Amino acid sequence: MTEEEAIIRLRSAGCVFAEDEAAVLVSSGGDLAALVERRCAGEPLEQVVGFADFAGVRVRLRPGVFVPRVRSELLVRVAVEEAGRHDDPLVVDLCCGSGALALAVREAIPGISVHAADVDPVAVACAEENLGGNVHQGDLFAALPPELRGRITVLLANVPYVATRHLPFLPAEARDHEPRTALDGGDDGLAVFRAVLDGAGAWLAPGGLLLSEITEAQAGAAIAAVDGNGLTSAVVTDDDLDARVITARR
Ligand SMILES: C[S@@+](CC[C@H](N)C(=O)[O-])C[C@H]1O[C@@H](n2cnc3c(N)ncnc32)[C@H](O)[C@@H]1O
Repeated sequence: MTEEEAIIRLRSAGCVFAEDEAAVLVSSGGDLAALVERRCAGEPLEQVVGFADFAGVRVRLRPGVFVPRVRSELLVRVAVEEAGRHDDPLVVDLCCGSGALALAVREAIPGISVHAADVDPVAVACAEENLGGNVHQGDLFAALPPELRGRITVLLANVPYVATRHLPFLPAEARDHEPRTALDGGDDGLAVFRAVLDGAGAWLAPGGLLLSEITEAQAGAAIAAVDGNGLTSAVVTDDDLDARVITARR
């Protein structure tokens, strides 16, 4: 299949950016016809080509692993600013998926100490490939080596935060190709965030900062949850990225 034929096939399948996507598929170097068919069947482009470009780094991806979103670059920016204020900071990427956030922070601050963890073994294998070590599998803090307890300077937790009743309205790419555990945040979308908050006080260093992405509608409840856990809340927004991050300081 030629690139021109790929463009026509992608366009006929309803792909809005057919030219751009065909160029990415060609550049990935695989069997173009097979890649085009996977894309036409609705698989996210990043899973088809096996990588996503995120916050200045190329992140390896595999089928079934959450595709890092551009808006999450705000999490990286806040994490890098915070880590940069400390000597020898320790950053943990909880609910790491592909490990994109940890990878981007490490790119910005070479040599920084980073750990990552996820409950999903497919995500853990993908993050291991991206980070090359210090990736742990398990439920939230239970995955982490006990010696990190009370020592975390920056705790990134891009938890699933879609309210269960909103899942049917997600784009088909997400619904059909990203695991429900990566998306479903329970009744109001904050169930996993609250579970992270429950452990954050014990795992953060004194003055340490937890960062989590939320929606505008979740801000009030998320602030109340942080304050109720004895941490200090703040919200950072970026209108260009359409992104909102809740921070919780110990
Ligand atoms: C929204 S995705 C974020 C992935 C990655 N941090 C990113 O920004 O691209 C949420 C991730 O949380 C993981 N997850 C969900 N529940 C979890 C739990 N109880 N413990 C650990 N990881 C969990 C999912 O497997 C998924 O990889």
